[in-house]
Amino acid sequence: MPEKISEDIRNEIEKLVKDLNYHCYRYYVLDSPLISDKEYDRLYFRLKRLEEQYGLVLPDSPTQRVGAPPLDKFGKVKHTEPMLSLDNAFSWEDMEEFDKRIKRLLKPDEDIEYTVEPKYDGLAIELTYRNGLLYKASTRGDGYEGEDVTRNIRTIKSVPMKIGPVSAVPEEIDIRGEVYMDISEFEKLNEERERKGEPSFANPRNAAAGSVRQLDSSITASRRLHLACYGVGSAKGADFRSQFEFIQWLKKARFPVPAVVKELKGIDKVIQTVREIGDKRKDFSFETDGAVIKVNDFRLQKQLGMKTREPRWAIAYKFAAHQGTTKILDIQGSVGRTGVITPFAIFEPVRIGGVTVSRSTLHNWDEMKRKDIKIGDTVVVERAGDVIPHVMSVIKEKRTGREKPFPVPERCPACGSKVVREQGEVAARCVGLNCPAQVQERIIHFASRGAMDIEGLGEKNVELLYSKGLINHFVDIFKLKKDDLLKLPRFAEKSSQNLIDAIEKSKHPTLSRFIYALGILHVGEYASKLLAGNFEKLEDLYHIKPDDILQIRQIGDKIAASVSDFFTDNKNLHTLDELKKLGLRIVNPDFAGKSRGRETKPLDGLTFVITGTLPKPRNEVEELVESLGGHAASSVSKSTDYVLVGENPGSKLEKAKDLGIKTISYEDLLMLIARQ
Ligand code: IVH
Repeated sequence: MPEKISEDIRNEIEKLVKDLNYHCYRYYVLDSPLISDKEYDRLYFRLKRLEEQYGLVLPDSPTQRVGAPPLDKFGKVKHTEPMLSLDNAFSWEDMEEFDKRIKRLLKPDEDIEYTVEPKYDGLAIELTYRNGLLYKASTRGDGYEGEDVTRNIRTIKSVPMKIGPVSAVPEEIDIRGEVYMDISEFEKLNEERERKGEPSFANPRNAAAGSVRQLDSSITASRRLHLACYGVGSAKGADFRSQFEFIQWLKKARFPVPAVVKELKGIDKVIQTVREIGDKRKDFSFETDGAVIKVNDFRLQKQLGMKTREPRWAIAYKFAAHQGTTKILDIQGSVGRTGVITPFAIFEPVRIGGVTVSRSTLHNWDEMKRKDIKIGDTVVVERAGDVIPHVMSVIKEKRTGREKPFPVPERCPACGSKVVREQGEVAARCVGLNCPAQVQERIIHFASRGAMDIEGLGEKNVELLYSKGLINHFVDIFKLKKDDLLKLPRFAEKSSQNLIDAIEKSKHPTLSRFIYALGILHVGEYASKLLAGNFEKLEDLYHIKPDDILQIRQIGDKIAASVSDFFTDNKNLHTLDELKKLGLRIVNPDFAGKSRGRETKPLDGLTFVITGTLPKPRNEVEELVESLGGHAASSVSKSTDYVLVGENPGSKLEKAKDLGIKTISYEDLLMLIARQ
């Protein structure tokens, strides 16, 4: 039975909910956090404990964002106003035609006012708020009826549970937006899926849609999804005059809005702005395939009305995709560190969007079969945004009959061991325990940037050192001698010394990087960070039981089992001890247990974006910023405090100037730290 609740406790719960929601907004919408993750977690757990103890859970409590038990199927939701699609424009003439049509219908005295926004490539969602609280979230479906995905959408941290501080909260309002996944997140997710032997997603849109349409909302919760709100459906008790005014209201109400929203008069200015968005789109963290142009005035929108499925008052301008056609010269299988074999295509080199593309992953055999891809085929290859190249389709007309399929190999291409494909699994896996490809991949992973970060120990050198018998396991890295290196073809005095120095420098990793470096099945960077936050020393993980790991919020059964398996295997523990004997000393700044309460740090609450080459590797500088309480973001926005400019800066510098954001050098950063 919950205890009886006092006024003080009720007030504390209310304040915690309010504060946590505000910090969530600072972090996920403004990208400018005010408090550290640790402090957030402390407040969160305090709230969770009070809620459990006193049985009072407010409807907008952040504890309600975690996944709920899986459903059998989604319920249906009828949209009060239909959710329409958009007509497309592919040229400036199409845009001028659009403007002319509108003028013909409205016969205005002056040029039409439009808004321009990037078109987000994700999944359209309608959020219904009743008396200010999130009540329902639904997919577009057929435009009239969609699926109830409320529990899933709640897990997206930038979706407000409650409309923010606006003067008049509408009685009921349908807010529309796009749920999307950042390109970097999409690539990370795919890497992780490949590692686990799950099929990768073809593009960020599929990844976002697949993540929202999950019957198990804890899966949605584990994906980092974002939202951009751009439209209003039915609204009771609200009166917006224009799209631009509505967007301003959304901002005040703490909703995330598109990265760019411009209000412009006349189609010429619109075209100019669309061009600018087109130039800038490679710098966006998300994928965009166009811009959406809307008549700004809602009265005029109403007057124009709609066609069968699209409004007359809006159009989507589609940027030309970076596409090319080329021939698949060969298909091969590459073996990852967990033995998963991934097919990849080798192309006749082709230039697409300014880069030469000569190979691309084909993801897995199901995907290859679905697209009917064979060796010798002529294919359309696309690079959308910054996304790695991708085979879109086969040009069947070009087939000669000599094309060859590439079935799942029976034997591993690297070691000749048997390849198995378990029932229901998409991945084909090499079972060879000592498969050289797996061994080498594990070493490459261990030394890689996000892991031990040993410069000079990339794919090529690992291959060389392995082939010469100098390293058979990552432990051997720390046994390398300069004299051994000097005997190798690619190594002279300086390069040998550099590698030895880099290895020496890597001997004091953080616990989170070290755990990640171990390459434990299912344990990526994020899970490693969580583990380091909860276990002070590596030894605390020795002989750990899955249940002890499951205490950590966000860690599920699979990871817990895998971590426990790893740390109960005596051979593994022996390896770890050997590493210690070789001089490895692990530090753990992430451990949350010892530092209760808030410590202030010199860069607390400040957001930095880096452009150009700095005197130190970028990830080191980012770590420095984060360790001092700052936040290192990837793209410049209004919430950026400083842009850190190195040599040969990119377009982020221009954006900073446009937005009037302070720019500083690496030396300035050091001064900034020293001064405080
Ligand atoms: S307005 C009546 N604005 O594009 C038109 N849509 O192809 C309502 N989309 O279903 C849509 N970014 O899912 C609008 N800034 C934006 C958008 C956007 C992406 C999507 C939306 C829509 C689809 C139409």
